[in-house]
Amino acid sequence: MANPFFPTNKNDKEKLHAITTASAILLASGSLGIIFTKELTISIASLLGGIAFMGYDIYTSVSKNKSEDKTTDKFFKSFKIQNDNEMVPKIIDKKEHENGFNIVFHMPLGITTKAFEKNIQAFREKYNCNDIRFEYIGNQKILMKAITSKLEDIYPFEIIPTDEILKIPLGRTKEGKIAMVNLMDTECMLLIAGGTGSGKTVCLLVIITYLILEKCKKYPYFINLHLNDLKGGSGLNRFEFCKYVKSYSTKPQDTLKLLQNALTILAERRKLFNELRVYDIEEYNKKYGKIRGYLPYEIIIIDEYAQLTCRIKESKEIMHDLASLGRSFGIRLIITTQRPTVEVIDGNIKNNFGARICFAVQSQVDSKTVLDTTGGEKLTGNGHGILSVAKKIEFRNFYIDTEQIEKLIKNTIEYKTSKENNTPGTEGCMKI
Ligand SMILES: Nc1ncnc2c1ncn2[C@@H]1O[C@H](COP(=O)(O)OP(=O)(O)O)[C@@H](O)[C@H]1O
Ligand SMILES: [Mg+2]
Repeated sequence: MANPFFPTNKNDKEKLHAITTASAILLASGSLGIIFTKELTISIASLLGGIAFMGYDIYTSVSKNKSEDKTTDKFFKSFKIQNDNEMVPKIIDKKEHENGFNIVFHMPLGITTKAFEKNIQAFREKYNCNDIRFEYIGNQKILMKAITSKLEDIYPFEIIPTDEILKIPLGRTKEGKIAMVNLMDTECMLLIAGGTGSGKTVCLLVIITYLILEKCKKYPYFINLHLNDLKGGSGLNRFEFCKYVKSYSTKPQDTLKLLQNALTILAERRKLFNELRVYDIEEYNKKYGKIRGYLPYEIIIIDEYAQLTCRIKESKEIMHDLASLGRSFGIRLIITTQRPTVEVIDGNIKNNFGARICFAVQSQVDSKTVLDTTGGEKLTGNGHGILSVAKKIEFRNFYIDTEQIEKLIKNTIEYKTSKENNTPGTEGCMKI
């Protein structure tokens, strides 16, 4: 197919020459006054002069394009992206967009998208872009989407309103879009994994601050937060006295009690739903919330899950039950780990944590444990992550610091006795 923007084939060139030559002849005849009257000749002459000039212009761009074609041909040949007749793909369209550019290649018979994908790194280098994707668009055409825009070093915390009660904006993508996780979806349990200092705690801080400011305030009867800071208590302690934080613990034993309470709640809710013949918490709240009282979502957040399972073996089984059954009964789990091994992230956890974030990890094996694919080992730290939900999304987490959190949640702080000494989950919170 001919390129509609840059005619390169012989016929087109011949046509251009024909226009130029015809224009020149007519110009000459016009000035000799053979065919036209003087005035008509002048106006037609200038018109044809213009066409001749246009012809020259197109011809130059054809030449420019030709050299691009030659280098592209060479590129394809050097990577053996050619068919048996040594025919190589041809550029037939090229368009810029706000994050990079798209090129459409016409594929000679015998070449498939696979040949492009195999050489993706070479394409990245040739087109100097960070990210590149290929898509077969039919009619022997491949669309190459190249992204040249980069992630910023930092994306300050933002409160972006969302339509669903547990939808949480996490950060931004290279394209400037918001990376979101929706804990109302089937992917409602969230696992955050990454090496030390990769950004897990900051990610939790962003999630908790967002929930407090944007969701708990709006839906005070619907969300109970339960924070478990098993890394020593410095990461999440500024939330301890927030009125929406129903329990706070720094000891694995307390977390175990919380989880046991959550299982009891789950069983009670299950019984209730069976009696009332409702399917899940959403249906219950819709049909019976007004009359019988709404049931809140119990959001259990654990910073360093391995601290729990390594110290208390029985906690694993409870976590499995909560992860697999919790969804319909309003239990949500958000856990982090710096040990992305199969002992910690076992098959059960993996199957039931549909939403996963991988921050920088050490090896491809670690990345596969978290995401099922490599890539996590190439992340650069400072909240640079891959979010795996229905698809995989590279992003950088928003950044927030202690000072900012304290200012933002000031109005939600109630100074009561420490929640740490209470048995988590029994302070009038996880009750139905
Ligand atoms: N989203 C982010 N943007 C920029 N810098 C970040 C981000 N997340 C983390 N960092 C940097 O990395 C440091 C460690 O982050 P942290 O969340 O404590 O790591 P982890 O909990 O994984 O050990 C932070 O103090 C900060 O300097
Ligand atoms: Mg941490």
